[in-house]
Amino acid sequence: MTTNSEKKWETLKRNPKLPTPTPVDREITLDENAILLSITDTRGVIEYCNEDFVESSGYEEYELVGSGHNVVRHPDMPRVIFKLMWERIQKKQNIIAFVKNMAKTGRYYWVMTDFVVKENDKGQVVNYKALRKPAPRKAIQEIIPLYKRLREIEDLNGIEASEKFLKGFLDSKNTDYDTYIERLITDNLGNLSETSGAAEKKKGSFFKRFFRIE
Ligand SMILES: Cc1cc2nc3c(=O)[nH]c(=O)nc-3n(C[C@H](O)[C@H](O)[C@H](O)COP(=O)(O)O)c2cc1C
Repeated sequence: MTTNSEKKWETLKRNPKLPTPTPVDREITLDENAILLSITDTRGVIEYCNEDFVESSGYEEYELVGSGHNVVRHPDMPRVIFKLMWERIQKKQNIIAFVKNMAKTGRYYWVMTDFVVKENDKGQVVNYKALRKPAPRKAIQEIIPLYKRLREIEDLNGIEASEKFLKGFLDSKNTDYDTYIERLITDNLGNLSETSGAAEKKKGSFFKRFFRIE
């Protein structure tokens, strides 16, 4: 049975005190060294965000903190990607995703996001953290048509259909979600080097391993 808490991400309403922007088809160019950080509670309500995140969003810090993270949700994002992300972090597992976010102006920016679970020493989830770096251009060129197909399928036949399509898409490439995403990043960013060996690889988040940020 699906409990209510597992479903929270689907029912959290966008903050009604903030107007929903109309999407504008103009990209925001992020500084290549920017690291956009946000921390949420277990429902996805923003508890903290850093200056790079605030700046790229176009919102004021006080508008973001206390709002659900869907405040920056772009309508082009397939729901299935968020479903996958929530299923993972609720199992205390990390996941990376390419995310198109919408700023207050309606303009958009693409990031690769490392979703990390913060636990206390009793193994209870304290909060979730998302670290974002500007997404490599070539990776985005591959992701855009995939997301478009997923959105079209969802619009017509729902999220179950887009989930099956995503699985078939990955199967047809003989890969799984994580390998596919990591490949898109490592193939399109020249100077990546792993920080340590296989044991660390299993433990560390992707950003920790490759960008030394956590
Ligand atoms: C730590 C964390 C960071 C998140 N960052 C984003 C983000 O940058 N953009 C986004 O659209 N959703 C983000 N989400 C997911 C949102 O909470 C939400 O599930 C998503 O925007 C879908 O919203 P909807 O259910 O209203 O369609 C994040 C969630 C967590 C837990």
